[in-house]
Amino acid sequence: MDIVFASRHDKHPEEWVRALQQALPDHSVRLWMEGAASAGTAQAAVVWAPPQALFEQEPHLRYLFNLGAGVDALLQLPGLPAELSIVRLEDGGMADQMAEYALYHLLREARGFGQYADQQRQARWHRMSPMLREDWPVGILGSGRIGSRVAQVFAALDYPVAVWSRQGLPVAGAEVFSGPEGLPAFLARTRVLINVLPLTPATQGILCQDTFEALKPDAFLVNMARGAHLIESDLLAALESGRLRGAALDAFIHEPLPASHPFWAHPRIQVTPHVAGMSLLGQTVRQIAGKIQALARGEAISGVVDRAQQY
Ligand code: GLV
Repeated sequence: MDIVFASRHDKHPEEWVRALQQALPDHSVRLWMEGAASAGTAQAAVVWAPPQALFEQEPHLRYLFNLGAGVDALLQLPGLPAELSIVRLEDGGMADQMAEYALYHLLREARGFGQYADQQRQARWHRMSPMLREDWPVGILGSGRIGSRVAQVFAALDYPVAVWSRQGLPVAGAEVFSGPEGLPAFLARTRVLINVLPLTPATQGILCQDTFEALKPDAFLVNMARGAHLIESDLLAALESGRLRGAALDAFIHEPLPASHPFWAHPRIQVTPHVAGMSLLGQTVRQIAGKIQALARGEAISGVVDRAQQY
């Protein structure tokens, strides 16, 4: 297969091209560049935020391998051919990192590590009451590769864990809720709400006032998915009213988050620059190469995006 690599954000695209070529010796892998004279013969592209020109200059593309799990931005690209198969990254080393990210924030809140850090600055020796896991039920929005790994990590530490998803597929160690009808009961038992949903018209704005109101008191939000899941003004109001105790946010509507944005300086919001789960080169290349080899053998592959569901 003739394969091109086209990522607008990657600083070292040649490393990806080299690793993909090494993993796929029977195929040809090259760096695609906008405007460069191109053979127009590529059948597959490995991409992150590719320019629209890719589809104009490569009319024979059949497969688009996304270097991330979320395909929301890709699906909005003008000129995206309807017959193209889009393949999302399944885990690719992200799920473990995201479980760690969520665990860090839960422990910081539940064990009072943030408060102890403040106390240290005041040389204050003050022991808070021990934490009980049953007081910190964790609820995960999304139960795919990432959500189920996050659930597994919390369940292994004996936190009460629930997941909510569209389909309600079983997840070991977690109580499962599904569909709009299952959301109120899921939220009512949740104190730490962790979002790893794909961004679709059905999930956009799901982190809103109604959702915050339905959670257990003194709840904490971790958003590791997309900025557009969150209604920003509702979060600020929920923190102001004390409905939420705090939030850890890794994804934003506008990235980089503008310097003037109120989230940066908010004492109860912790901002990170979209790093909760980063696709790791080795695992990502192995996965994509495995799928290209399977396709070349005429086999079906997993992770193909359902255009109707938009993930
Ligand atoms: C990152 O945000 C991804 O979608 O993988």
